[in-house]
Amino acid sequence: MKVLMVASEAFPFAKSGGLADVLFSLSSKLVERRQKVTIVIPLYQEVLRHISFEALELFASFEVQMSWRKKRCDVYRLEYKRITYLFIDQESYFMRDKLYGYDDDIERFSFFTMAIKGLIINKNLHFDIIHIHDWHGGMLPLVMRDYEVRKKKFKYVFTIHNIAYQGICAKEKLGDYLNLDDYYFDSGVVRFNGEVNFMKAALVTCDKITTVSLNYAKEILNGKYDYGLQPILKMREKDIVGILNGIDYKYYNPKSDHLLPLNYGLGDFALGKKRAKAEIIKKFGLKDEERPLFAIVTRLTFQKGIELVNDVIPTLVKTGANVIVLGTGEYNLENQLSFLYHEHPEHLYVHIGFDEDEAHLIYAASDFFLMPSLFEPCGIGQLIALRYGALPIVRPVGGLADTVIGYTGLNPNTANGLYIYHYSLSAFESAIGMAFNLYKNKTLFKKLSKNALKARFDWKISANKYLELYRLLVN
Ligand code: GLC
Repeated sequence: MKVLMVASEAFPFAKSGGLADVLFSLSSKLVERRQKVTIVIPLYQEVLRHISFEALELFASFEVQMSWRKKRCDVYRLEYKRITYLFIDQESYFMRDKLYGYDDDIERFSFFTMAIKGLIINKNLHFDIIHIHDWHGGMLPLVMRDYEVRKKKFKYVFTIHNIAYQGICAKEKLGDYLNLDDYYFDSGVVRFNGEVNFMKAALVTCDKITTVSLNYAKEILNGKYDYGLQPILKMREKDIVGILNGIDYKYYNPKSDHLLPLNYGLGDFALGKKRAKAEIIKKFGLKDEERPLFAIVTRLTFQKGIELVNDVIPTLVKTGANVIVLGTGEYNLENQLSFLYHEHPEHLYVHIGFDEDEAHLIYAASDFFLMPSLFEPCGIGQLIALRYGALPIVRPVGGLADTVIGYTGLNPNTANGLYIYHYSLSAFESAIGMAFNLYKNKTLFKKLSKNALKARFDWKISANKYLELYRLLVN
């Protein structure tokens, strides 16, 4: 089967979060099952930090017309680990510092969408499945319609990684950016709350819809964290499935991870983790190795509950913890964290940035991993934490509830983390209190850590589910 993955980011060339990892891991597994997978993303400046321009092969060159605008588009190709990557190049839109977060994001991803159409037509490409991830390519089924009248219709799968970001703009932009008739607005296909909504358009026009955990599928269908789109989801209920993300258990493996001072497994994790902790405490200038270590590795956004984290840090430090934060994101959250770091340099380390090597060491060194997300479609940090034997402390929402089993006092044989039952400081503090008690009870702590190390959320199973879904559409 030939699959085209349409996304705004993909590991290892452009990554701001879990979406990029999913694109790569899912595609790799599909390739292992002998499917032909092509990923198309923009040629951001970031891509050229990972691969030299000379390594890319010019695959197509054409002009993209967006109403009065005529823009050149070059498409570059690269084979990487048996996946074909196509990069859409238009300097004025994509050669910038960041991947997104610009005022003209709608125009940029409209261009991306129109360029994919141009590419398919120019090279007469055929795919059995076009799999679109999040809002950025959400208008593709609509803009392809006039072409598909003459050709065979493609089958579209749409995956919601985060329904909070929908791609919203004014009615006029429909024709201005996407050459689409007002009819699509007036008839309601792309209209939501009086505006054009890319995600809604995808939900209405794609053949199947998936999201990244079963629980998140349930939540958004029930109007929780749905960011207004529940009525649309309800209309498509029978075509929606939740398929849990996984992680790569070969890449994230404390037994062979060369970034750790001492590798470890189920039998000797206590020593391995102790060594990692000693190294990191020294490296980051923290004091008292005996303190429990709480870590956070995340994008610093409101979704991740960082405001609560910032409120709880002084208590944590006072009660006897060491805390490490690694991540970038919203400016005010970064600032608050930097301020806290200045206040508590002996027991808090904050690195505003991202460093893959450092992240591995943090996962291995920490006793607890904090993820008090407001909502969480799947979450990947908690899966990596489990893999390295750090107990996740999470809010049981979305994928966090599907992957972490909170300790209740009655389930020592299955629990592998702790739950924060409400989005409040007091609920967070009581979970922290439990964590401290757990840390003191060495036998119990060891038992839960073992449960964590044994957890498996493998991509193999999930990739098979996607494949089944594709087959359902193609046959
Ligand atoms: C988004 C979601 C996150 C999910 C990731 C990959 O970043 O916020 O929960 O794990 O997409 O699907």
